[in-house]
Amino acid sequence: MLSRYHPGTKQLLHHAVNACLAPLCSLHMAAVTTVEGIGSVARKVHPIQERIAKCHGSQCGFCTPGMVMSMYALLRNNPTPKMADVEEAFQGNLCRCTGYRPILQGYKTFSADGECCGGKEKNGCCMKNGNEGLQSSEEITDEATSLFNMEDFAPYDPTQEVIFPPELMTLSKGQRSGSLCFHGERATWLQPTSLKEFLLLKWKHPEARVVVGNTEVGIEVKLKNMVHPLILAPAFIPELSAVTHSEDGVVFSAACTLSHVAAELRKAVRTLPPHQTEVFLAILEQLRWFAGLQIRNVAAVGGNIMTASPISDLNPVFMAAGCKLTLMDKDGSREVQMDDSFFTGYRKTAVRPQEVLFSIHIPYSKKSQFVSAFKQSPRREDDISIVTTAMSVTFTPGTDVVEDLKLSYGGMAPITVLAKKTANKLLGRRWGEELLQEACSSLAEEMTLDPSAPGGMVTYRRTLTLSLFYKFYLTVLQKLRLQGVRVQEVGSECLSATQVYHQETPSSVQIYQAVPKGQSQDDVVGRPMMHLSALKQATGEAVYCDDVPMYENELYLALITSTKAHARILSVDVSAAEGFPGVVSFLFADDVPGSNVTGMRQDETVFADGQVTCVGHIIGAVVADTQIHAQRAAKAVKIQYEELQPVITIQEAIAARSFYEPIRTIQNGDLEAGFKQAEHILEGKIHIGGQEHFYLETHVTLAVPREDDEMELFVSTQAPSDSQAFVAKALGVSANKVLIRVKRLGGGFGGKESRTIVLSPVVALAANKLKRPVRCMLDRDEDMLITGGRHPFYGKYKVGFLNSGKVVALDVSFYSNAGNSLDLSQAIMERALFHMENSYRVPNIRGQGFMCRTNLPTNTAFRGFGGPQGMMVAESWITDVAHSLGRSAEEVRRFNLYLEGESTPYNQILHGLTLDRCWDECLSRSGYEQRRAAAQLYNRQNRWTKRGLAVVPTKFGISFTVNFLNQAGALVHVYRDGSVLLNHGGTEMGQGLHTKMVQVASRVLGVPCSKIHISETSTNTVINTSPTAASVSSDLNGAAVQNACEILQKRLEPFKAQNPKGSWEDWVKAAYFDRVSLSANGFYRTPDLGYDFETNSGRLFHYYSYGVACSEVEIDCLTGAHKNLSTTIVMDVGRSLNPAIDIGQVEGGFMQGLGLFTLEELQYSPQGVLLTRGPGSYKIPAFGDIPTELSVSLLRDAPNDKAIFASKAVGEPPLFLAASIFYAIKDAISAAREESGLTGPFRLDSPASTERIRNACSDRFTKLCPPAEAGTFRPWSVQV
Ligand SMILES: Cc1cc2nc3c(=O)[nH]c(=O)nc-3n(C[C@H](O)[C@H](O)[C@H](O)COP(=O)(O)OP(=O)(O)OC[C@H]3O[C@@H](n4cnc5c(N)ncnc54)[C@H](O)[C@@H]3O)c2cc1C
Ligand code: FES
Repeated sequence: MLSRYHPGTKQLLHHAVNACLAPLCSLHMAAVTTVEGIGSVARKVHPIQERIAKCHGSQCGFCTPGMVMSMYALLRNNPTPKMADVEEAFQGNLCRCTGYRPILQGYKTFSADGECCGGKEKNGCCMKNGNEGLQSSEEITDEATSLFNMEDFAPYDPTQEVIFPPELMTLSKGQRSGSLCFHGERATWLQPTSLKEFLLLKWKHPEARVVVGNTEVGIEVKLKNMVHPLILAPAFIPELSAVTHSEDGVVFSAACTLSHVAAELRKAVRTLPPHQTEVFLAILEQLRWFAGLQIRNVAAVGGNIMTASPISDLNPVFMAAGCKLTLMDKDGSREVQMDDSFFTGYRKTAVRPQEVLFSIHIPYSKKSQFVSAFKQSPRREDDISIVTTAMSVTFTPGTDVVEDLKLSYGGMAPITVLAKKTANKLLGRRWGEELLQEACSSLAEEMTLDPSAPGGMVTYRRTLTLSLFYKFYLTVLQKLRLQGVRVQEVGSECLSATQVYHQETPSSVQIYQAVPKGQSQDDVVGRPMMHLSALKQATGEAVYCDDVPMYENELYLALITSTKAHARILSVDVSAAEGFPGVVSFLFADDVPGSNVTGMRQDETVFADGQVTCVGHIIGAVVADTQIHAQRAAKAVKIQYEELQPVITIQEAIAARSFYEPIRTIQNGDLEAGFKQAEHILEGKIHIGGQEHFYLETHVTLAVPREDDEMELFVSTQAPSDSQAFVAKALGVSANKVLIRVKRLGGGFGGKESRTIVLSPVVALAANKLKRPVRCMLDRDEDMLITGGRHPFYGKYKVGFLNSGKVVALDVSFYSNAGNSLDLSQAIMERALFHMENSYRVPNIRGQGFMCRTNLPTNTAFRGFGGPQGMMVAESWITDVAHSLGRSAEEVRRFNLYLEGESTPYNQILHGLTLDRCWDECLSRSGYEQRRAAAQLYNRQNRWTKRGLAVVPTKFGISFTVNFLNQAGALVHVYRDGSVLLNHGGTEMGQGLHTKMVQVASRVLGVPCSKIHISETSTNTVINTSPTAASVSSDLNGAAVQNACEILQKRLEPFKAQNPKGSWEDWVKAAYFDRVSLSANGFYRTPDLGYDFETNSGRLFHYYSYGVACSEVEIDCLTGAHKNLSTTIVMDVGRSLNPAIDIGQVEGGFMQGLGLFTLEELQYSPQGVLLTRGPGSYKIPAFGDIPTELSVSLLRDAPNDKAIFASKAVGEPPLFLAASIFYAIKDAISAAREESGLTGPFRLDSPASTERIRNACSDRFTKLCPPAEAGTFRPWSVQV
């Protein structure tokens, strides 16, 4: 948070900003407050820190300081915010773990209008009654709905905040201290204090970059490798931040921040007559969805104009509204109209190099003028536009005759454009259906795009230009009617198309079974205990791998990676890079003393050896004194390639039969007989896109060489033993010389299971070569480029079924895009096959799995591990069955659900099945029947927005399918003072594993949690550990911990018997003096497993976790946007070890699945280059994506006799439930297609992006923009 004192207004202003974009030089006169500055566990935690922790809003904790500071900045400016303010404050924050609900719920407690009961009301939370249709709560006495107790919270007292530093206040009051100059290694920063000086400097240095918010220039420098040797920062020039009101509008000086602009416009809207504020309202609408608050707080209006981005959200409004710009140089000023002559080319303007933009004049609108602006982006909040537009029409007063029309579009050309031809054609015409038709055909001709245009989505973008005009058309019709002008009638069913999106504050309820009456207060198992590190995470004191303090002599490493997908390396030239400052050494394949061969299947290299097989393939590394020096040098290494034909997509791999062996098949029943018996047979296809892990902490390794060839590594890994093995192999030493230490991970989700291969051995090799500590943390773009993600899948199916909806035969083939090595692809494909029928009994079935060998970075484990892809294909065919029969998909699903005692395709009998209970409870809690009826009514009444529902079950098999991994160890030490040090083989990555293990140990040993400590996971305490993966870590490690603790208990028994009234400490002391070992190893192996693919027999899974979700969505058929209206989840997690953590996993997993199935799209060029390499272009769910109503209940009375204390695995199973959102969207699209006479099954690939939704809602507008014929052009991106 930055705080500045403004002597003019005598105000102290606090802003949350993005640290990575705030240049140090710009912080002159600013007080910087970080999360460490507002509270600490050692001193006193701040209420903001306390509440996010106690409300379970911190899992891995990597995002938590950012959340805390966004809230802190808000409260410093406004101690009694409304919920809308809280939501706005978080527009720019992301969390990959929690699903956001607990963060919002925690911070609702500070808001003036959000005083929720915290679930204390009789029937659950005051926000929603979660028990509709169920037994009354008098009957359910042990149902709990509160995961925290508000009474535990320290009150918030704004008067106790840290004061603004008095010295800075004094300095700020006499601010005009003179200009500043900072010299850096490559850039000089000049900060003039007067306009004259600024203009002189720009005259002298026309090449200088002007920087205000740095939100554009910062990106250019950091991500586009641009160098700006001279920077002029005019932030301290009062004239450049001024706002003046003129007779005909408002003038904003160029350095006014967007937050400032918004505040001024809001004020104007409140005070001016409405007809004058049409332009202002359009700008405010664009600003509502412009970046996040952190960006708007610093980004300037002038910066947006001068960047001249073709997808700027403000420039279309400025152009349509006829704004005027004042440009200045040292000799004077000139005024230019912001029209189509202002933007002269891609990111170019008519402003001369010596000139600066001084101000923009935004006019009042006229009485008969109407203005609207629309922005369409993949995600609503904090996202860049696909198409952005502003439209202004002026009528001859009192009529509907068009006098002036301006249609301005961004995203349709290299510059913001005006659709002049169309506008001119419509002049003098009446605002009615004829005009609409003409406008649409004309726009379709005028707003064309080359089918290969950068950004892709060509058909969608073209359709949007028409659809958005239609929205404008309808909006204007309504406004004209309100003004008493006689206009054509529009059916009421069209009006929802004009509604402006308003986010509703989400409400939620969480329901779980309380611990049995009589359970001792000291026994914490089953209670919603806070994550043990949560407070430290909220205060910034939690230590992650890269927080390990720098060692003396430490060096930094940067990777040299391939820019070609498939090529022979002809030469590597480091001569230019060698001369760069700070460079110490280079490493290539020849520098590997051990084996250069690595990977889970020994089919990878540490460094490329003569050939590269993907973009991002590691060729070498540079080691330098600092990160920046290493990265600069790495970029300067020149590599010559001879390019070879790459295989990028699944379809290309199928054509080339580029598959890895084995091609797996599972078959059961008699397929031929099944299809013969079927009364209907249909075929279908679905492609499921991949997913980036987007853990907030990227891959990181710090390697420290020790004596005797020992190497100590701090690694952010889910698989310490695998990391140990890979490093030892590359170094050519035995495993006992390599120590891997893991304190905690800032998220893993499977991405840090096997892919630590790419970084840890490289860093260890450098440390070994130079005998100095070496560190490397990947930048986000590198991490996304190199480390792979979830496998894209293509599913082809043929399904046979009866009139009743009963599925009797299924033949399904899966193709996964495995990438350039096998890694874990086989086990992932196998899990997809094991989940090919999801929760449905199919008597005659065959599934085949093909792993495509392509030239993409190898894809890897990701929460669900192929299961979600397999089940997604199942949901596609079951939906098709329902569509083709004209039946409700829910009816067909319910009808085919497994029954107790039935057998799976891999011959495992299902016992303890709770699917039916989850299903029925979910339907009743969600009020499904009423919702369905209401949605049908809604759809009849609305043409352009449609609602859809879906109920989707999941059955997730629990066990590693690779049998030997189903083992775990623990090592428990009891020290003489009675304190317990607990070690187990699992890593803590936010999922609360350590917390659960402490709960287990506490129960078995009978000591309070406060006496038990877990320091870290390391390969010298518990050895040969399985990765923390497959959802089984609590089961495996929990049982091993239980085993170790029981051994210790047994050893202590005699001492308890001798002194029954003694304390824990007494018994421990007595045992010690009696020379009894107080250290024990625990071990566990899952019993009775042993599936064999060849014979399709043997027990595969230890048990299953079940769940059902019902979701309702609303789509905007014209734009493809959708709202998640409600989701009800019922999840069987057995008897929960910790309901707060388990509900956190359900919600977090669900939101990650929501990203997978509706939002997250990795774009690859046809040459295999990943185009989406950061949060700017790859969108994970944000706060605004939470379903407006979210209910999660853990199925009651469902103890599981197969796992620790009757619990069940929960990490992965809930993810797939987000498919309910996808299929609800598909349901809504069906309703839209019906309006165009289209019925029956249709293909919808995942994710259900805005583009796919819009294109599927075929209508009069889409017909005007037919796609270019495939094969006649080279697309910008391909479906991999
Ligand atoms: C996370 C993120 C989200 C974003 N979201 C959006 C979005 O939703 N919509 C959107 O349109 N943009 C978005 N942007 C782009 C960016 O924030 C805006 O363009 C912003 O307004 C730039 O302002 P700035 O002050 O930070 O510019 P700076 O980076 O400081 O400067 C940008 C350019 O403008 C020039 N310049 C600035 N002031 C002057 C002047 N007075 N005279 C001459 N030249 C000048 C500079 O030389 C430079 O070339 C986003 C950026 C980020 C990082
Ligand atoms: S807790 Fe938010 S990213 Fe992990």
